[in-house]
Amino acid sequence: MEQYIIKGGKPLKGEVEIGGAKNAALGILAAAVMTDDDVIIENLPDVRDINVLLEAIGEIGAEVKRIDRHTVKINGGNIKEVSVDDEYIRKIRASYYFIGALLGKYKKAQVPLPGGCNIGSRPIDQHIKGFRALGAKVSIERGAVIASAETLSCAHIYFDVVSVGATINVMMAAAMAEGRTILENAAKEPHIVDVANFLNSMGANIKGAGTDTIRITGVKRLHGTEYSIIPDQIEAGTFMCMAAATRGDVLIKNVIPKHLESISAKLIEMGNEVIEYDEAVRVIGAKYQRHTDIKTLPYPGFPTDMQPQMAVSLALAEGSSMVTESIFENRFKYVDELARMGGNIKVEGNVAVIDGIEGFTGATVNAPDLRAGAALVIAGLCADGFTVVEEIGYIQRGYECFEEKIKGIGGAIEKVDSEKAARKFMLKVS
Ligand code: UD1
Repeated sequence: MEQYIIKGGKPLKGEVEIGGAKNAALGILAAAVMTDDDVIIENLPDVRDINVLLEAIGEIGAEVKRIDRHTVKINGGNIKEVSVDDEYIRKIRASYYFIGALLGKYKKAQVPLPGGCNIGSRPIDQHIKGFRALGAKVSIERGAVIASAETLSCAHIYFDVVSVGATINVMMAAAMAEGRTILENAAKEPHIVDVANFLNSMGANIKGAGTDTIRITGVKRLHGTEYSIIPDQIEAGTFMCMAAATRGDVLIKNVIPKHLESISAKLIEMGNEVIEYDEAVRVIGAKYQRHTDIKTLPYPGFPTDMQPQMAVSLALAEGSSMVTESIFENRFKYVDELARMGGNIKVEGNVAVIDGIEGFTGATVNAPDLRAGAALVIAGLCADGFTVVEEIGYIQRGYECFEEKIKGIGGAIEKVDSEKAARKFMLKVS
């Protein structure tokens, strides 16, 4: 089993380049099959979730051609199968985007109920509510969502909760429905805007993405396009926290600073310096950092996907911080792992109270999910001695070349798959 072994205690310094946004790419790849023409997608992150989705796209009959590591050409002209069933696709959350894409284009879809990180109960009732409002019949049979419609017609849909997935999914189906659909209480995340821009570049007519009201005038046909995915807000935020927590100085390149404002604001409140450039941010970690409180909220609030990484930073700040998780109920599983490293965090319901400590000590810990796994790597980079992070498959789902990028800014980290390799690394860095 692969694991990361980390020797901590060194401030990270240098430059790191951020890749394309995984969560935008997942929506965009699914939407790419909605035209029969060629679609070229650039700045695609080479991570496991994306590669699984590409495989599934190939399996339903679309042509998928890798032009290079970060560019793919997709042609959905020969899709014969509207039933997506791949043993891996069940494991990724974004498999549900095939429902909106295939229902929009072919007026039918059959997709297994999604899996993904176990961070909460993650229902899809809002997606189904939206599809039904557009006139589709939707049922759940033998673990799959089955949706079909004679025709999809416009609707005025009010989402009961702000959901990234439901907003993107229903927006895709409505892009090829008849008439003008209005989505109210829509999510406003940068990747919603990116998927809408992508669909518009294929000839869709979507207005208002990035606000809570999205207006979609359906079109009969979408055409080919070339599109470059936005930078990953969460990968960037993870490196920002890494720079701050290790008391380092890192220039994080290829980012949209506006998307990082909530993270920058919290790091600044803690006493760190964040300098914004046009397409980069530089984070200079302060030696003494102060406590602060965070509450996760839909964009532009503090992202739930950054909660564990920020909690690790707060665990090394002076005083008590309160972290309130208001999106997913199961996102504090890393707390027990941090306790093995000396972390002093108490969880009560959806609130974690963090009492800052002077430093972590290295230990063997388990990555409970993608973002919590990244947070434990940050903790390892700050810790005294060696830390082993197990179950790193989770981390590889969403971070491309994570260990290489960390090495590039001076971190002592190695991906190993045997005791022998671990010992070799320990000897090398000791
Ligand atoms: C997406 C992201 C995930 C991120 C999350 C919140 C992808 C592939 N994943 O997940 O990384 O953590 O947004 O920013 O983009 N809900 C319902 N009914 C629904 C849908 C959602 O009650 O039909 C609830 C969820 O349980 C959760 C909240 O709404 O409490 C937000 O979920 P949502 O925004 O849909 O998250 P995902 O799209 O699954």
